[in-house]
Amino acid sequence: AIQRTFSIIKPDATKRNLTGAINAKIEAAGLRIIAQKRIHMTPAQAGHFYAVHKERPFYGELCEFMASEPVVVQVLEGENAIAKYREVMGATDPAEAAAGTIRKDFAVSKGENSVHGSDAPETAAEEIAYFFAGLELVG
Ligand code: CMP
Repeated sequence: AIQRTFSIIKPDATKRNLTGAINAKIEAAGLRIIAQKRIHMTPAQAGHFYAVHKERPFYGELCEFMASEPVVVQVLEGENAIAKYREVMGATDPAEAAAGTIRKDFAVSKGENSVHGSDAPETAAEEIAYFFAGLELVG
């Protein structure tokens, strides 16, 4: 079925001017970018977004990192978009990511891993609603 997923191009990637290169991989995979904007999150906003990871040892570092530079938030649409984007991203740890994936080609480390993608339909809907108004999604 046609799905929507939420994506973030993270600070390590925007800083290195990789937004276009990452979007090229997204589009080459058949996903459509139906909403996109560049924002600079506060640590509190990043903390809210990553609340599910609150108890993890890297939570503080993760929130600081996500607020360190601008990010590009996106909504991607396509057949099986959630799983497809996770394939295009590659494993969380770039050392374990498959050839040709975004993280294999661009990520710096497990933390500075260039992109985020939703892991399930429920989280995709929540994440999209946190960053975008309905009128901003143009499919
Ligand atoms: P993301 O898919 O955005 O969701 C949670 C994030 O936590 C993950 O990508 C990584 O960027 C980050 N993360 C996971 N493991 C670690 C780690 N060991 N150290 C720092 N950050 C991590």
